[in-house]
Amino acid sequence: MVNMETPDRGLAGKVALIAGGGGIGGETARRLAAEGCKVMIGDLFADAAEATAKSIRESGGICAAHGYDQADDASVASLIEATVREYGTIDFLLANAADMAALTQDSDLLAIDLAIFDRTMAVGMRGVMMCARLALPHIVANRGALVFMSSGAAHAGEAQRFSYAMAKSAMNALMRHIARRWGPEGVRANAILPGLVLSDQVKERMDKAVVEQMKGAIPAGRLGETSDIAAMVAMLFSRDGEWVTGQTLSVDGGSSMRP
Ligand SMILES: NC(=O)c1ccc[n+]([C@@H]2O[C@H](COP(=O)([O-])OP(=O)(O)OC[C@H]3O[C@@H](n4cnc5c(N)ncnc54)[C@H](O)[C@@H]3O)[C@@H](O)[C@H]2O)c1
Repeated sequence: MVNMETPDRGLAGKVALIAGGGGIGGETARRLAAEGCKVMIGDLFADAAEATAKSIRESGGICAAHGYDQADDASVASLIEATVREYGTIDFLLANAADMAALTQDSDLLAIDLAIFDRTMAVGMRGVMMCARLALPHIVANRGALVFMSSGAAHAGEAQRFSYAMAKSAMNALMRHIARRWGPEGVRANAILPGLVLSDQVKERMDKAVVEQMKGAIPAGRLGETSDIAAMVAMLFSRDGEWVTGQTLSVDGGSSMRP
């Protein structure tokens, strides 16, 4: 006899903190709320985060928002405190924020304005580490999980945007550390490496001809949608992801293929 009951993915009632609630983060908030998570969206732009949270609440989900600056330790602490005040604990952290404005000015080692390097690292490396450090005690207590929004740039060896690649490589190293150190206590950590995803920001900034060209190089024949990445986050937080930890997972329509 085949069991035809819908599997319980174990997300209902869990508390998910999304640090960085724009394109991919906002869609992930929607997806996790739809699967029953209580969601906190943190973002530099508090009003935009609240607008996303409000639309989730209006659709019947549980979601709150908090403004914070990931480049500021005290502000990161305020996000963790706000989440625990709202929901009592944290089961899942999605470290999603990156300064995409700095990314547009990231260049090569000789040309870069060091202020851009510092900002990229403050938000994308130290800030990510602080989010994980302050959320971790709650996650350990709940045998929860972390997902880091990395990038294929971490290992692509690009001629430009090396600061971004350095921040994402550091993030991958942090993810592996957490997976190894707290794995025996039931905590899982993974990193997602999205291909080109059509968030509103990307739609606005990228040259249409370049987008068409990139599409042609993707085996799956289309660019990514924020929902493609949100689905992977939900899987990794859910029981379906119970034996997946310490991984960098490319979600990119096959643009990168690794053994
Ligand atoms: N879109 C893509 O094609 C793509 C590809 C690879 C990796 N990524 C990664 O996915 C993540 C999300 O990217 P996105 O495309 O949704 O971009 P996005 O700009 O829509 O989302 C990033 C969010 O981080 C927030 N943020 C920036 N600086 C912050 C700060 N100092 N404090 C708090 N919040 C801050 C922004 O306000 C924004 O809401 C990023 O980490 C990015 O590096 C995206």
